[in-house]
Amino acid sequence: MNEKYALECINVDKYYIMGSYKIYALRNVNIKVNYGDLVSIVGPSGSGKSTLLHVIGTLDRPSKGAVKIDSIDVTNFSESELSRFRREKIGFVFQFFNLVTYLTAVENVALPMLFSRKYNSKEAEIRAKLLLSLVGLPEQRFKNTPRQLSGGQQQMVAIARALANDPAVILADEPTGNLDLESTSKFLSTIRFLNEVTKKTFVIVTHNAEVATFTKNIKFIRDGIIYEKPPEDFLKMKVLESENFLNKDEGKIYKSIIDFEEEVVKRRFIDGEIDEETLENEIREIEQKRETLRL
Ligand SMILES: Nc1ncnc2c1ncn2[C@@H]1O[C@H](COP(=O)(O)OP(=O)(O)OP(=O)(O)O)[C@@H](O)[C@H]1O
Ligand SMILES: [Mg+2]
Repeated sequence: MNEKYALECINVDKYYIMGSYKIYALRNVNIKVNYGDLVSIVGPSGSGKSTLLHVIGTLDRPSKGAVKIDSIDVTNFSESELSRFRREKIGFVFQFFNLVTYLTAVENVALPMLFSRKYNSKEAEIRAKLLLSLVGLPEQRFKNTPRQLSGGQQQMVAIARALANDPAVILADEPTGNLDLESTSKFLSTIRFLNEVTKKTFVIVTHNAEVATFTKNIKFIRDGIIYEKPPEDFLKMKVLESENFLNKDEGKIYKSIIDFEEEVVKRRFIDGEIDEETLENEIREIEQKRETLRL
């Protein structure tokens, strides 16, 4: 049976070619997101969050595997098919808001509607105002440009813009990364409320585990690999890996430091800076350090 999902990644790899190296940003990613879900994907810097969101959002193509959005396989879509699909099906919210600086809040939200050609300019303006009210921007701010708005207010405009063309899914990349505690809590309340009211699918990627606790489902990403449960062993694995490194390379460096110490002690004896007894004591200590290193 062919089950339907709002979002699906099937065996997705994404790698970048750097000279003769392949850098994997995503490895065999399999994700299914149900219609109406509110999902966060949590991972540290460089784990592949933005890459994943770009691949899901059709801004980037996978190197291998398939992506389905609203149950439609977009993997082999042409660029023009993709840009149309993106405009109709996907809303984006970014960390740096990405609003057009010379347009007002209303105009920013109306812009994608005008591109879609579904609304005339009057209709786009009316719908933009309704969406801004829905996300809770005070009406006296509607005619302000982004520079005249706080970060939290700019992010409200960005959510309203993401909803402009009634997309199936809304994707947010570190949306609270530039917000203070109060704006972050308002943003999360708005997302939860919009998810309840509109039944749309939301996917948020973030490094902030606390932000993630406010979503219905949490997935984890480390080194381009998706985990359904928090990878508790991951830190342990990393620490053991770096301990190996310590034993091999730093051990060698430490041995050279001890060898050098011996050279210095001998030189000081020859130059008459220390007597024979001190020399013997020092050499004994150096031998002890060598013994410790061999253990
Ligand atoms: N265009 C590119 N060329 C080469 N490597 C890239 C490219 N884009 C991303 N990468 C690499 O892919 C990996 C994942 O990057 P990505 O931007 O998805 O991480 P992230 O989880 O969003 O990090 P952050 O929290 O810092 O935004 C990183 O190692 C990054 O250096
Ligand atoms: Mg990122």
